[in-house]
Amino acid sequence: MDWGLQNRLSSIIKPHNNRALMLAVDHGYFLGPTEKLENPKKVIAPLLKYCDSLMVTRGVQRTSVSATTSTPMVLRVSGGSSIIGEDLSQEDITVSIQDALRLNASALAMSIFVGSKYEYQTIVNLGKLVSEAEQYGIPVLAVTAVGKELGKDARYLSLACRVAAEQGAHIVKTYYCDNFEKVVQSCPVPIIVAGGKKIPERDALQLTFNAIKGGAVGVDMGRNIWQSDHSVAMIRAVRSIVHGNSNVDQAFKLYQKLVNEESKKPNNPNQNKSKKPNNPNQNKSKKPNNPNQNKSKKPNNPNQNKSNSI
Ligand code: 5RP
Repeated sequence: MDWGLQNRLSSIIKPHNNRALMLAVDHGYFLGPTEKLENPKKVIAPLLKYCDSLMVTRGVQRTSVSATTSTPMVLRVSGGSSIIGEDLSQEDITVSIQDALRLNASALAMSIFVGSKYEYQTIVNLGKLVSEAEQYGIPVLAVTAVGKELGKDARYLSLACRVAAEQGAHIVKTYYCDNFEKVVQSCPVPIIVAGGKKIPERDALQLTFNAIKGGAVGVDMGRNIWQSDHSVAMIRAVRSIVHGNSNVDQAFKLYQKLVNEESKKPNNPNQNKSKKPNNPNQNKSKKPNNPNQNKSKKPNNPNQNKSNSI
């Protein structure tokens, strides 16, 4: 392996323990202003020092990440469809290698949609991207995207991960599943696990622990960190599993301790927020006759829950 490629890879997967904590903030590339990621600059700033690398689009990197950071950037270079479009799997490469170099990317990331209408296009794009990126010593992370219509079990994910690795991906990002070991064992390159939709903090820590126990090098987590009301406490708890070998109880205790400390800080805007006795807006949305209640849950909204399947 070329020195540059090896050097970049080792900034993402730490060589001393073969572990990686990646913070994913690339969701806007097809979801737009995702809940709690409306202002990426504010979200990223306090979290940046706790992750090993940031998975980001070029637009957010340029506008919302300080160029003085020493955190490696994993640049998403694929896109082309949005959540309200017809088919999320119709992606192409949208960023040139020259721009990736200008952005000092430590790795390039793109999605493949194995089993979808556009699998051919995305898999061929992965092969081409690897060939191009290797000329400059830049590793490629392949995201095995999932959708409602695609599977999320060990059989499907093994196939998708293996296809990605066969095209030359240097890291594969996938989802945790039952029999996850099977996915890891049949993939010859390191696997990193996405967090998926927001779940309770303890469950997300359990997922992190299970993924590493199952053979993943770490997590590339987004929503379960920045959609938490205590995102810094959460990333630090996740980190304690990835790099500190904490078990779930230890990590959750750390999370609770940090939340507790946070609530005692004098300028904490969340302090006692929910305890205001005379807050006239409290529970406003729960009024029985609120006409907007459950507005987004229209039964005929074809895109409903689409974002939950990423
Ligand atoms: C989407 C992605 C996201 O980065 C990925 O889903 C990770 O974020 P989360 O932990 O929120 O699932 O690659 O294709």
